[in-house]
Amino acid sequence: MRRARITSLATYVPPRLLTNADLEKLVDTTDEWILQRTGICQRHIVEKGVGTSDLAKEASLVAIERAGLTPDDIDVIIVGTTTPDTLFPSTACRLQTKIGAAKAWGFDLGAACSGFTYGVTTAAGLVSSGAASHVLVIGADVMSSIIDYTDRTTCVIFGDGAGAAVVGVSDDEAIGILDFENYVDGAFGEALQMPAGGSLMPASAETVEQRLHYVKQDGQAVFKFAIRNTEEACRRLLERNRLSASDVDLFVSHQANRRIIMSAAEKLGVAPEKVVINIERYGNTTAGTIPIALDEAVKDGRLKRGDLVLLASVGAGFTVGSILLRWGTKQ
Ligand code: UT7
Repeated sequence: MRRARITSLATYVPPRLLTNADLEKLVDTTDEWILQRTGICQRHIVEKGVGTSDLAKEASLVAIERAGLTPDDIDVIIVGTTTPDTLFPSTACRLQTKIGAAKAWGFDLGAACSGFTYGVTTAAGLVSSGAASHVLVIGADVMSSIIDYTDRTTCVIFGDGAGAAVVGVSDDEAIGILDFENYVDGAFGEALQMPAGGSLMPASAETVEQRLHYVKQDGQAVFKFAIRNTEEACRRLLERNRLSASDVDLFVSHQANRRIIMSAAEKLGVAPEKVVINIERYGNTTAGTIPIALDEAVKDGRLKRGDLVLLASVGAGFTVGSILLRWGTKQ
């Protein structure tokens, strides 16, 4: 088996900002409440007519270049997204054409906020087995397309953004993706969902009138599940690898709420200075948060070759994922 690693990373967020002050004009909320309860100051939002594949394209082309590759070298494209351009064709197919990855096959991966972690673990399996050499993994969402901007309990949280990683063969057995711990718990699915628009409740005048094509969530239930399971998945992963939280150099968790991340890190025993937080500038970009946060950590010089990195995600489903890796990219 070959060791897989993240060879390169890149991100893209649309330029337009939606600040807490903007939201104060849309719903009954305050900058103070949003900041205190979520840690968010602003989010990036697309202009009308921009889809997930457009954000993914910008991030992908840079990631491919940083890996020292061309689009022709990409074997597989995996797009983790909850907001595909269309139900079909897949965003992966649209992206394949946009970036000119002539030899790639690919698919969309529906795991909500775990889209990137599940994408990376899937890619690592393909690379390790020899089935692929270069897998382009995207975490991208245009959450503004499914957010109800009259619902203050959801509209303050989400933003749009994309991250792309090339997963390839490691040049050093000690560097790369070491292990992962993924699981789902479908019993709590209704706590975070978009009720209409699928086969169960196809779009109709009634579903539109009842605003069922927007994100609905039981915030408290998601909050508690996220803290408990971020800790649980990471603990299992560390224990299995005979490591402790103090061995972790950088903890990059899904950015859903500052309080969720810090509480999970504290319960796990990861020191606050090892926790990456950038939610204040992007909000929750769903599948985009982890690659965006990881890419920023790289740019900020917070990672050096050989560092132990712990990625963690909890998303609608519920989906839970964590990945342990030794850092070492070309960037
Ligand atoms: O990727 C996964 C995506 N989702 C999540 O991760 C969500 C996880 N949950 C959360 O992040 C938090 O539960 C929220 C940010 C959604 C809500 O924070 P909370 O501290 O759990 O607030 P709460 O739901 O307990 O509500 C407290 C109060 C309520 O008012 P009353 O009943 O105490 O009078 C809410 O109506 O805050 C009110 N409230 C707001 N007030 C001002 C809820 N949303 C807002 C708002 N502005 N935007």
